[in-house]
Amino acid sequence: MAPAAPPVHRAGPADNTSFAVEFADIGRSFAAKPQHNSQPGSQRGAAARPVLRDVSLTVQPGEVLAILGTSGCGKSTLLRIAGGLDEPSTGSIRIDGSPLNGIDARCAVGFQEPRLLPWRTIAANVALGLPHRIGRAAGNARVAALLELVGLTSFADHRPRAVSGGMAQRASLARALARNPGVLLLDEPFGALDALTRLKMQDLLLDVHAAAPTTILLVTHDVDEALQLADRIILLGADDDADDMAGGRTGATIVQELTVPGGRPRDRGSAELAELRGRLLAGLGIDRHGQARGVAATTTIPHFPY
Ligand SMILES: Nc1ncnc2c1ncn2[C@@H]1O[C@H](COP(=O)(O)OP(=O)(O)O)[C@@H](O)[C@H]1O
Ligand SMILES: [Mg+2]
Repeated sequence: MAPAAPPVHRAGPADNTSFAVEFADIGRSFAAKPQHNSQPGSQRGAAARPVLRDVSLTVQPGEVLAILGTSGCGKSTLLRIAGGLDEPSTGSIRIDGSPLNGIDARCAVGFQEPRLLPWRTIAANVALGLPHRIGRAAGNARVAALLELVGLTSFADHRPRAVSGGMAQRASLARALARNPGVLLLDEPFGALDALTRLKMQDLLLDVHAAAPTTILLVTHDVDEALQLADRIILLGADDDADDMAGGRTGATIVQELTVPGGRPRDRGSAELAELRGRLLAGLGIDRHGQARGVAATTTIPHFPY
């Protein structure tokens, strides 16, 4: 029998592609909810509600960009636009210099929930992310390499219900990487995990990025996670009305952009990071004592505005 055909798609997590992502004047509005109690003849839901406006940014190939902002400010919307899952109302996106039109095979998306198929094994779930034209042998080799990368080799044949939440999320990350994406879009990927598992997943993501330095856009509401993982952090919010943090009237835009100094992994307790943390928390509307403006004094950082 002839040897297996050479893989059409590069296999192995070390073979990497990473693309620049360019956002040019991105705006997104959604139709306002219809007024159910409006009088006949009155205008129903005519005005569009702006969520994002004037978002311009270039993410460099291989860069890890964290997108921070209060709940509902448009973080997921921006990420969905980057993945072609949603269209901007204005502006355009380019990936690797070419315009994005619809769902793009160059991007892979990971969500807060692992979204694994319960009837498939962990390995078979990871294989779902493989590119269509990959050969069987190359596909199997790539799944095995990814399972090893995320520490799930001995759980390859388990069903999702038989593994922990952290393991399921690792499998989900491996599935997103299976296509060897040039851009990895992660929407609060560790948000549903307990604090310790979350820290371990952050380390794992750093290992994954070191092994295959793809471009990563990471949506998070966790300032420390952003400081630990990102090369650069953008904060989305309203820049014209400090009390309107989610940008409700005009839409959110980039109100802070900062480069995180130092190589990874970073010292979580460093004074330099503490200064940046203070700035970002202030940008999120939380003062130095961990209290949110306009919120009961007992509210502490971990519970607001997440
Ligand atoms: N498909 C949609 N239709 C209408 N409104 C939407 C849609 N998607 C998001 N929104 C609204 O846009 C705002 C931003 O949502 P989202 O991007 O999910 O925020 P975040 O991820 O920052 O919490 C929210 O007010 C949300 O209700
Ligand atoms: Mg979101």
